[in-house]
Amino acid sequence: MAGPPPFRYILDTNQFSRQDLDFFLRQAEKLEEQRREDIFGMLEGKILASLFFESSTRTRLSFETAMLRLGGQVITTVGFQFSSISKGETLYDTMKMVEAYSDIAVIRHPVEGSSRIAAAAVSIPVINAGDGTGQHPTQALLDLYTIFRERGSPDGLRIAFIGDLKFGRTIHSLIHLLQHYNVEMIFISPLDLALPESYKKSLRKQNVSFEETEDMKEMWDCDVAYVTRIQEERFVDKNEFDRLKNSYSINRAFVQASRRNTLIMHPLPRVSELSTDVDDLPNAAYFRQAGYGVTVRMTLLLLCLGNFPEGQS
Ligand code: CP
Repeated sequence: MAGPPPFRYILDTNQFSRQDLDFFLRQAEKLEEQRREDIFGMLEGKILASLFFESSTRTRLSFETAMLRLGGQVITTVGFQFSSISKGETLYDTMKMVEAYSDIAVIRHPVEGSSRIAAAAVSIPVINAGDGTGQHPTQALLDLYTIFRERGSPDGLRIAFIGDLKFGRTIHSLIHLLQHYNVEMIFISPLDLALPESYKKSLRKQNVSFEETEDMKEMWDCDVAYVTRIQEERFVDKNEFDRLKNSYSINRAFVQASRRNTLIMHPLPRVSELSTDVDDLPNAAYFRQAGYGVTVRMTLLLLCLGNFPEGQS
């Protein structure tokens, strides 16, 4: 059975209502409970075009794994240099070819708005896998699923967002989803990496409770801490990056001082902001979080292609 219209294209977290998110979480949970052999074949005969014009490990590999686990197949292009875009072909023309060769496309691109341009060019479903400083909606859905799996409904939780709140597209995307829940948000960052005003304006409009601080210790009173690296690739001035790059770091002793057994999340990759000595703490969820990416992306592929089996909704 096909999912509701918001799951035809996945371009922006603003496209989802609370009802859509509840539906999505239920579908993902049910899919995760199924045996691998029962899932295999659900997308037999379908082809995913995996178009990654910007670097990725988790998003690309988990989308491709998701398609293969469902019995579908994958065609892929990685980087502009191995695509005819390097010879001057437009994204529009590229997408016309993708439409001819595949049933669904996932695209990561360094320019904000590219996935919308790609989707407008074709009649197959298109999924935004991160577009520059814009959105990363499938990461936000897997982050929401992680909170749901590890701590239950986000309602009533106090959630800290830590790090590069200025450029971090995963944070910008997740904030949009969490506006549908009764959460308290704490934004912890150096002043120069604070959350842009447009997001705060949107939160105020939705009556979402939030605080801003530079004090990392505020995470000790949070149920979830969502840590991010400084997005070096988004800085125009590299001296500015060098000035800020070591401005925060979280280690095991700091996490263990939490008064709420704070769940530690991170979209990954990490660099120096989260020490490896945190990894084996039970509340360090980031590798499990990346693992949930396969379930979440299987769910999205099934919904976008209208291939959820009867009785799933
Ligand atoms: N979290 C995330 O988007 O990771 P990748 O850049 O490796 O895909």
